[in-house]
Amino acid sequence: MENPAITNHEIHPLIAQRWSPRAFDSKPVETEKLAQLFEAARWSASCFNDQPWVFIVATKDDTVNYQKLLDCLVPFNVSWAQAAPVLGFVVAQKNFKHNDKPNAWGEYDAGQAAATLALQATALGLVTHQMGGFDADKAIATFNIPETARPIAAIAIGYAGETSNLPADLQEKEKAPRDRQPLASFVFTGEWGSSAKFI
Ligand SMILES: Cc1cc2nc3c(=O)[nH]c(=O)nc-3n(C[C@H](O)[C@H](O)[C@H](O)COP(=O)(O)O)c2cc1C
Repeated sequence: MENPAITNHEIHPLIAQRWSPRAFDSKPVETEKLAQLFEAARWSASCFNDQPWVFIVATKDDTVNYQKLLDCLVPFNVSWAQAAPVLGFVVAQKNFKHNDKPNAWGEYDAGQAAATLALQATALGLVTHQMGGFDADKAIATFNIPETARPIAAIAIGYAGETSNLPADLQEKEKAPRDRQPLASFVFTGEWGSSAKFI
């Protein structure tokens, strides 16, 4: 299934087509495609070119490490993400590499890397679904994440599956039209709350 964004202005099809389904096919992601995803993330922009992102990833055939990832998710996310052939965590490093001072943009940059990965996935015919619903303390302990880094989000990656394989309530969510706030609510000029005239 696809669920492209119905946009008010034309945008690149890749951006419109990216979405976060919960139905995954069991088909594994090809090794080369996996490498392409992280190569895309690698070329994301970052403050001081610090590249503060780390991805902790496992494919389903790596049963031990895949299960470790799954065990960190909240039960709702486990219910659908367990079908995804690839799971991972997006982690942000807290300090700059060049001076070990706090990097206020580390999470911003890690998010950009994840967004870049998600678009590359769309270009490769894959889908991604990011998740905030996980136990961060458990992830830190399970993966020996140092104090100098913070797990920001989990991510499920794979090929889109049959919506009919999901429980009824999730099927409904999957088919619901995607919605967004209007441009006027977040593009301002002059002062906070003053919508830009050009939109
Ligand atoms: C940081 C982040 C956390 C999210 N957490 C969850 C989650 O825990 N469970 C879930 O099912 N979806 C989660 N989502 C998916 C969002 O609900 C989804 O991106 C949003 O509804 C917009 O839909 P779209 O990605 O299809 O455009 C998360 C997305 C992001 C970016």
